[in-house]
Amino acid sequence: MSATYIRCAAERHFAGESMGTLMQASLPACAQELRERFAGKVQMVYLDPPFNTGKKFEMKARIGEKGYKTGSPSLSLPAYDDRWESREAYLNMMRETLILARDLMKKEGTIFLHIDCRMHAHMRLLMDEIFGESNFLNEIIWSYQSGGRARTYFPRKHDVILFYAKSRSYYFSLKSVPIARSEARSNHMKRGVDEDGRSYRSIISAGKEYRYYDDEPAYPGDVWDDVSHLQQKDPQRTGYDTQKPVRLLERIIRCSTQEGDLVCDLFAGSGTTAVAAAQLGRRFLCVDQSPLAVAVAGKRLSQTTMGKPMGVSYDVEAPCGEDDCQVEAEVFPAITSYTVHLSSFESEQAREAGIRGMDAVDQWSAGFVQGDTYRACVANVRTVGTPKLEATVEMPVCAGEPCIMIVDIWGNRRFYLPKRRY
Ligand SMILES: C[S@@+](CC[C@H](N)C(=O)[O-])C[C@H]1O[C@@H](n2cnc3c(N)ncnc32)[C@H](O)[C@@H]1O
Repeated sequence: MSATYIRCAAERHFAGESMGTLMQASLPACAQELRERFAGKVQMVYLDPPFNTGKKFEMKARIGEKGYKTGSPSLSLPAYDDRWESREAYLNMMRETLILARDLMKKEGTIFLHIDCRMHAHMRLLMDEIFGESNFLNEIIWSYQSGGRARTYFPRKHDVILFYAKSRSYYFSLKSVPIARSEARSNHMKRGVDEDGRSYRSIISAGKEYRYYDDEPAYPGDVWDDVSHLQQKDPQRTGYDTQKPVRLLERIIRCSTQEGDLVCDLFAGSGTTAVAAAQLGRRFLCVDQSPLAVAVAGKRLSQTTMGKPMGVSYDVEAPCGEDDCQVEAEVFPAITSYTVHLSSFESEQAREAGIRGMDAVDQWSAGFVQGDTYRACVANVRTVGTPKLEATVEMPVCAGEPCIMIVDIWGNRRFYLPKRRY
């Protein structure tokens, strides 16, 4: 039974108050719209931009049930292109983005710009120019061990995260990011026990004694070597190149925001910021030009359940894929629920790539269309734990027309009205 292709302008996934928005849009084209909607509302901006590496980045995608079962990536799909006409072109893009970020921030807001040794010196000057030298807070060194090891110079094993405030009345809470006290790092200190029996380590500097009690929490300095990069087999890995660990974003979000605050990421990639924000009860605005990035981020949010039956509630604003597929889907209405059945999906792009039928579907959901908004109730996503997509789902009766959304392995999102069966 052929389903009918429709276009939806907006998506709301799952019940409850939305935690945030994933937006597929390109900078600087979307800057004006972002200013109109979000200027002065963002508490913290995290930017992990292209680093001007001169390379193309990919998504190592698993295809179909077999791809997820064997755990081996079956296909490399283009994610983003980090090749620039000139350094000037790159710096112009970054200047525009940083000005936009500043406009979106509240006066209490802060920004973390994640960069590596290639553009770091240029970015430090650009940040001084846009945010003001007096609003510089830290140059955080994130040091890690993963990746290859150079032999013709010292292995480059750190990124730099430039931390600036928008104004002097910025919010920052070191107390929100306690870390384990490191024995190794404090063994140059003298051990002691005070008159109350509390043990401590101490160091004398400029004639003054500094005591660090064992029962008091420790806090990170500006060198972070306790957050490891994602290892090859890390279950967090999505296959999206340049993905950052959730733990890194958790630290950044915790120290710079409070529950309910809005966190913004203008180069969202696989959605690490959105996932960390949602887990910490912060709202998010995550923008990326790549349809694959939005698809991967949405998939991760669908698995961020926070005790709910489905994922946390979130919105997506992304263009719809073209009406160039054949889809067979039916809906069987009952009194309190609907049964939705997706039996086949055929696309020209998949045929050309030699991918058969439902193997080209990476996630699908069922819900209702209200006006031009799709409201997903039940999602079905391929994961290593659930490599097979269910063909049939049950959903409660809601206002609107029953509708399904199919996201293919390229991140194209298409909407269809299943045939009604009475
Ligand atoms: C380094 S990756 C971000 C990785 C991300 N932090 C993560 O954990 O997955 C940079 C991202 O910026 C996006 N991007 C590059 N140029 C863009 C532009 N002009 N507008 C919006 N997004 C862009 C790319 O698609 C890519 O996903």
